[in-house]
Parts: sequence; C-alpha cells; structure tokens
Amino acid sequence: MAERKLLLEHAHDPAYVTLKGYLDKGGYNGLKKALKMERQAVVDEVKASGLRGRGGAGFPTWIKWNGIEKDKKNPHYMVCNADEGEPGTFKDKQLMEQTPFTMIEGMTIGGYATQADCGYVYIRGEFVDAAKAVRKAIDEAYANGYLGKNIQGSGFDFDLYVHMGAGSYECGEESALMSSLMGERGMPRLKFPHAPLPTVAGLWDRPTIINNVETYACAPFILDKGGEWYATLGASTKNSRGTKVFSVSGHVNKPGNYEIEFGTTLGELLDLAGGMKGGALKACVPGGSSVPIINAEDCGKAVLGYEEMAEVKSMVGSGGCMFLNEHTCIVNFIWRTSLFYANESCGKCTPCREGTQWMEQILSRIVRGNGQPGDMDLLLDITKQIDGRSFCGLGDAAAWPVAAALRVFPEEFEYFIKNGRSMVSGPATDAMTPRWALAAGV
Ligand SMILES: Cc1cc2nc3c(=O)[nH]c(=O)nc-3n(C[C@H](O)[C@H](O)[C@H](O)COP(=O)(O)O)c2cc1C
Ligand code: SF4
Repeated sequence: MAERKLLLEHAHDPAYVTLKGYLDKGGYNGLKKALKMERQAVVDEVKASGLRGRGGAGFPTWIKWNGIEKDKKNPHYMVCNADEGEPGTFKDKQLMEQTPFTMIEGMTIGGYATQADCGYVYIRGEFVDAAKAVRKAIDEAYANGYLGKNIQGSGFDFDLYVHMGAGSYECGEESALMSSLMGERGMPRLKFPHAPLPTVAGLWDRPTIINNVETYACAPFILDKGGEWYATLGASTKNSRGTKVFSVSGHVNKPGNYEIEFGTTLGELLDLAGGMKGGALKACVPGGSSVPIINAEDCGKAVLGYEEMAEVKSMVGSGGCMFLNEHTCIVNFIWRTSLFYANESCGKCTPCREGTQWMEQILSRIVRGNGQPGDMDLLLDITKQIDGRSFCGLGDAAAWPVAAALRVFPEEFEYFIKNGRSMVSGPATDAMTPRWALAAGV
C-alpha cells in the first residue's frame, strides 16, 4: 500500500506555513463548517470518524470531547500535548514545523465543540523551530480573525498560547504536563477512578481536554470532508480509522515520517522507508521505545492497527517505528532503552523509582560482561513488580521493553551472561558503559 497523505500532503510546501498558503489549499474549511454547526454535531462528526488519540493510548477522541460539561459553569480549557518525548517518535515536530495551522485549526474546532475559553500548546523545550512556527502561525491567525474574539463572525472567542516545557519525558504524561503547565513540579496526579478525569477537573481543576498534536491535526479533515468519509480510511482494520504518521528510523535506507492508512502492513511501511540497510531485518520496535519489540517473523505478519498490533503482542503506540538489522545486539539495545527510562523516572513512586534503576544496573552489568546466573529471572521479576503497580504509565513503559526482549530473544541474554560478550557484537566497549559507571570506575 502506498502512502496516504492528509496531514503531510503539503508538508514540504513552504507556503503552507503561512495563512495564505494554508487557505489556498483548503485550510480552515473545517472550522468554517464547524462554526455553523451545533456543538454536539461537531462531537458527533468526530465520533463518526472513529478518530482515536495519536499520542500513544489510542483512546477515542469523541469520548473526551463529549465528556466536558455541556451546561458550562466554569472556564474550559484545551491542551495540546506537543511534548513528544518518546524515543523514536518525531512526527509532531514535523507537523508543527511544516503544518502548524492544521493543529491550530483542530484545537479551535475542539475548543468550539467543548466551549473552551482558551488553549495551551505544551511544546517540549528542545523544539525551538516548532515553537517558532507555531507562534508565527498563531499570530497570523489572530491578525486574521481565526483566533481571539468573535472568530470569523461566529460569536465564538478562543485564545491560544504556547508554553515551552524543559525536555522532561514525564511531562508528556497528561497529568504531569498539566502540573508543569500550572507551574508545579512535572509529576503526575492521582487518576480516575481515584480522582476525577481531566474533562471534569483538569487545568486549575477546570474541565480540560488534552490531546496530541496529530489528533488535533486530524479534526480539520474530519469536519471538512465528514466523519463518515474519514472512517472509510482504515476500514480493513477492526477499529482503527484514518491515517497515521509513523516515524521510521533505525537501519532503513530512507528514515523519515510516513503517513499511511491504517491496515497497511509493517512490511509495506518498511518498503516505503527504502528497505533495510546494512543487513537483514532482525527486529522492530513499532510504536516508540516503550512498546514491545517483535522479531522478523512477527514483522512479516504485523498489520498497522491498534487491535491488529496486539495480535503480534505489540502496539501502534505513538508511531515511532525502529527497524533493527541482524547486526544489532538486542541486549545492548534494551540496556540503552532502560537507561533512558531510569533517567526519566520522576521518582514519585517506589516501583518505578527503584525498579527502573535496578533494571538498568542489571542490564548494565550484563553488557559489561559481568552478568550473573539468575539475572534473567531477576529482571523478569522486577518488570512484574513495576508493570501495573506504578503511579503512572512511565513505569509500565519502562517494564514492557525489558519483558518483551527477554521473551523474544532469550538466547541473546543467555549467551551474554554465560560468555561475558555479545552473541552479535562481541565484547563491551566504553560506549556501552553509562556515564555514572565510567565516572565511578566500575
Ligand atoms: C510517560 C508518558 C509520556 C507520554 N508522553 C506523551 C507525549 O510526549 N505526547 C503525547 O501526545 N502523549 C504522551 N503520553 C500520553 C498522554 O498521557 C495522553 O494519553 C495523550 O496526550 C492523550 O492524547 P491523545 O488522546 O490525543 O493521544 C505520555 C504518556 C506517558 C505515560
Ligand atoms: S511511574 Fe512513578 S516514579 Fe515513574 S514517572 Fe510515574 S510517578 Fe514517577
């Protein structure tokens, strides 16, 4: 299956970052239609589209939008999660840099549907170019009546602000993001059912919608062409509709963002990215570093859809698709992944704070040739102590890659522990030693 471009159709056209260029290509048709509709009809259109959140969890977007109080008593907020911290994922960055108006229009449509007073785009600190492009687009939208008071004469007022994060992975977790946005420490809050949903009490305890950049960017197409039309895309899958942007990286000839229709196979995505480089396909992490790794055989069976990826025991996740060739040492790869999660754990809860460090330390000693008999069982046991027992999803995200690698490639761990060297890449080098271990001389 070829690429199916909606969001990225005009991504490389420099004019598309200007309001005029955007309008010339049909931009803001979706908002103009929405503003003539009842608010509930806009939510119903999103429901008909089958749109699910593109930030990682695949939650139905309309359920959030519908969950906001209809009889408005308090200010309502829209938040765009533009933190994009998941290793392997770089789609939101491109969407903001090259197509900023689609996200802004999508937020305005969502704002209208949920009676929001204002919205915040929370952009990770390193995305300086993306923030510049979004700010410039917001200024143009204000100057031309697409943001601010009485948008396009409709009587609807909506303000939009950019807020830069400081590059913490945890601040992509929605409740931690909101804490950070409110000036608090970027740590997660208690969640439903122990606390109200953000749609009831989010930012400043007011009703709040939080969605990913790509999720909002789909809304203009849904409103312009209709939810039913949108739902024809991906109709071959069980319950994944529309297009999805996958960030393809690793050992491929043409890394980059590829927008495909759900139902495309993982093999077809690999072909779009120019096929494997430097050796045959060994494994793939299809949805960002936290999702379970799959081997070449399962890559051959994998269909890109939320339920379909579960059939090969993995996930669509955020769409960060990393292909690994036959010369990749899986033990090293997973150690680097666990180092990331250990560094990013916010420390609030014990299973993740302690467990991510333990996993990293055990993997680190294995890749430095000092693995102990029983390390595989110990690692697996720790993953079970973290998964489902942590305060937020970061703990699960740290445990899944380790548990999956032990399940799919046990022979590589066994070999490394027994022989003190990688089955694939030989003995450890300094590059495989974390900074703390080099500094401590261990
Ligand atoms: C540790 C962690 C990091 C996350 N990082 C991001 C992120 O960078 N961007 C994002 O959109 N969602 C991220 N999420 C998911 C968000 O919590 C939330 O589900 C998402 O923003 C909802 O938007 P959606 O329904 O449009 O996907 C993260 C979740 C966790 C647990
Ligand atoms: S799982 Fe716990 S320690 Fe880890 S990031 Fe979430 S709250 Fe912090």
